[in-house]
Amino acid sequence: MNTHNVTPDLMKVAIASAREAGGILQDWVSHFSVSEKGPQDLVTDADLASQKAIQKYLQSRFPDHHYLGEEGLSQTEGKSPFRWIIDPLDGTSNYVHQFPFYAVSIGLEYEGKPYLGVIYDPNRDEMFTGIVGEGAYCNDVEMKLSQATPLSESLVVASLPRCADRTDPAVARFLNILPLAQHVQRTGSAALNLAYVAANRLDGFWSTSLKPWDQSAGVAILLAAGGVVTKMDSSPFDVDCPDLLACSNPTLQSELSEQLCLVP
Ligand code: IPD
Ligand code: CA
Ligand code: CA
Repeated sequence: MNTHNVTPDLMKVAIASAREAGGILQDWVSHFSVSEKGPQDLVTDADLASQKAIQKYLQSRFPDHHYLGEEGLSQTEGKSPFRWIIDPLDGTSNYVHQFPFYAVSIGLEYEGKPYLGVIYDPNRDEMFTGIVGEGAYCNDVEMKLSQATPLSESLVVASLPRCADRTDPAVARFLNILPLAQHVQRTGSAALNLAYVAANRLDGFWSTSLKPWDQSAGVAILLAAGGVVTKMDSSPFDVDCPDLLACSNPTLQSELSEQLCLVP
């Protein structure tokens, strides 16, 4: 199958769906109720309403595709090469505290590989999009990646596991990188971290605690922008594996990988 025949339609639908879902998040912002799925793992009415809308929008147009969504969505019947991977609200903790750094994230795989990504930040009205091999955009402006940057001049970001304590290797890795990078951040939205690396606002991002919906869209966008995406030890990226190292350029990727791998 030639994906070029269907790509404009897929992208158009993904963008429209992400925009609608972003509107739903903003509609709920003053009156949502919140509950805990697990320790420090929050879910709100907005997460559920957003996923419901995305699911309805995509499934009505692509009923034969496969689907995976954070809030209990899994459709695996049939032989479609396409799988949508949806995070209806990435950054729920930020959303709950009205810290305006969260997004809708919609990724699409083709034959098990990152293919297309759309991440929508409703607070800044920024739509990050990318198709692997065809380029990446923020609100229709092509994103350009930074040239070789050493770690000492880089702004990097980490996602740490929920409830991590001082004995957690993820905390040890974070502390190892602190004196080596120009600055290290933790933002609460893995999707926006990846979009920001593609947009050249951050240089690198790593985590060992991600789910497929945290990374699918952002990885497609970063690859489309020409970035480097691997596991922490530089082995090939796997969306089902919680371990990710995503950088704007290969120089930084190898320096970060070497330093991160010092902690087993
Ligand atoms: C979370 C965010 C956060 C990351 C967590 C994710 P959620 O997603 O992406 O940055 O550190 O691992 O679970 O729960 O807000 O969709
Ligand atoms: Ca998430
Ligand atoms: Ca989420």
